[in-house]
Amino acid sequence: MRTMQVELGERSYPIIIKNGIINEVGSNLKEMGFSGRAAVVTNPLVERLYGKAVVGSLKAANFDTAVITVPDGEEFKTLKEVSAIYDRLINHRMERLSPVVALGGGVIGDMAGFAAATYQRGVPLVQVPTTLLSQVDSSVGGKTAVNHPAGKNLIGAFYQPKAVFIDPDTLKTLDERELRAGIAEVVKYGVIWDKEFFEFLEANAKALFKCGVELTHAIETSCRVKAEVVAKDETEKDLRAILNFGHTFGHAVEKAAGYGAFRHGEAVAIGMALAARLSVKLGLCEKGLYERVCVLLDALGLPVSLPDFPADALIAAMKHDKKVVGGAMRFVLLKRLGKVFLQDVKEADIRAFLSGKQG
Ligand code: NAD
Ligand code: GLY
Repeated sequence: MRTMQVELGERSYPIIIKNGIINEVGSNLKEMGFSGRAAVVTNPLVERLYGKAVVGSLKAANFDTAVITVPDGEEFKTLKEVSAIYDRLINHRMERLSPVVALGGGVIGDMAGFAAATYQRGVPLVQVPTTLLSQVDSSVGGKTAVNHPAGKNLIGAFYQPKAVFIDPDTLKTLDERELRAGIAEVVKYGVIWDKEFFEFLEANAKALFKCGVELTHAIETSCRVKAEVVAKDETEKDLRAILNFGHTFGHAVEKAAGYGAFRHGEAVAIGMALAARLSVKLGLCEKGLYERVCVLLDALGLPVSLPDFPADALIAAMKHDKKVVGGAMRFVLLKRLGKVFLQDVKEADIRAFLSGKQG
C-alpha cells in the first residue's frame, strides 16, 4: 500500500494506492468519520465489474447505499445526465455529509464530481478511479466538469475529493487501447517533471502492459507529481498549466479528426511529439530530446505523427481551446527532460510549423 497526501490546507486529502482497495471503500469511509447514506455513481459496465465489491463494502460498513448509473460514454457527460443524478440523490435523501462515490473512468469522475460539487452546494466526494487515465490524472486535483455543445468541459467547478482510492488490479479488465492511452499521460509526467521517471519508462515500456509492479510504480509516481503540482497551484493560475503539455495540439487533433477517432491519450501522444518538435524548431531544446520522446511513445505503441489535417482546421480548433488565453496561443514547451515552461507563440509561426508538417 502507498499513501500520499494532496496538501491543500484544510482541504488536503489522501490518495491511497492498494491492490484490492475496491473491497475496502466502506471501511475506509467509516474510518474517515462518514456514516449514514452514500451514493455510488457509476455506469453499467463498471457496475457489472466492480459494483458488487464497492457496494458490498459500503453495506458491510452500514452505509444505506444507492447505486446511480449513467450511460457509458463521453457523449453522456452532460448537464442532462447530471440532472438525472441530482434526482436520484434527492430520492435517496442524501444530506450534506453523505458521500458520493465516483466509481469508473474520467467521465464518471468528472460528472459525479460536478454533481457532488453542486448538490446542496457541495457534498463529500470520493474518487474510485478504474481506468489508468483516471488513476493518474482526472481523479486527482479537483477538476470536475461536463461538456456543452459548444465545447468539452465548458461547465465545471474546482472541487477536491475527500479521498482517492486507487486499485491497480482494476486495470486488468481494461481494454488494452484504453490502457495505452492512459500511458500517454504517464509519459507526460516524466517529460514535464521527472527525468528519472522518464528513464524508468524507457527501461520498462513493455513491462507496463503486464499490469504489475511496474505499472503500480508508474501510477504512484504520476500521482505524486500531480499532487505536487496541484498543491502549488490548485486553480491553474500558472504552474498547473504545465499538466497540459501536448494537450493544445492534442485537443486540436481530437477535434479535427472528429471526436471518437482518437482516444484522448493517443491525441495527446501526437500533441507531445508536436510540442517537442516545436520546442526544437524554436531553438529551445535539442533535437535529440524530441527524438527520445518519440522513441518512447513509439515503443509504447502510441502514435507520434500528425495525420494530414489542414493547418487551418488545427488552428481553428486550437483557438477554441479554453487554454488559449486572450487570443494568444500558449504552449507548454520543452527545455530539457523534467523541465518545461509556458510560452506564447504567434499564430503565423504555428501555421508555418503545421503547414510544413514539421511534427
Ligand atoms: P472513460 O471514463 O470513458 O472510460 C473509458 C472506458 O473504460 C469506458 O467505456 C468505461 O466504462 C470503461 N471502464 C472504466 N473502468 C474500466 C475497467 N476497470 N475495466 C474495463 N472497462 C472500464 O474514459 P477515461 O479515459 O477514463 O476518461 C476520459 C474523461 O476524463 C474525459 O471526459 C476527459 O475530459 C476527462 N478528464 C478529466 C480530467 C480532470 O482533471 N478532471 C483530466 C483528464 C481527463
Ligand atoms: N489534467 C490537467 C489538470 O488536471 O490540470
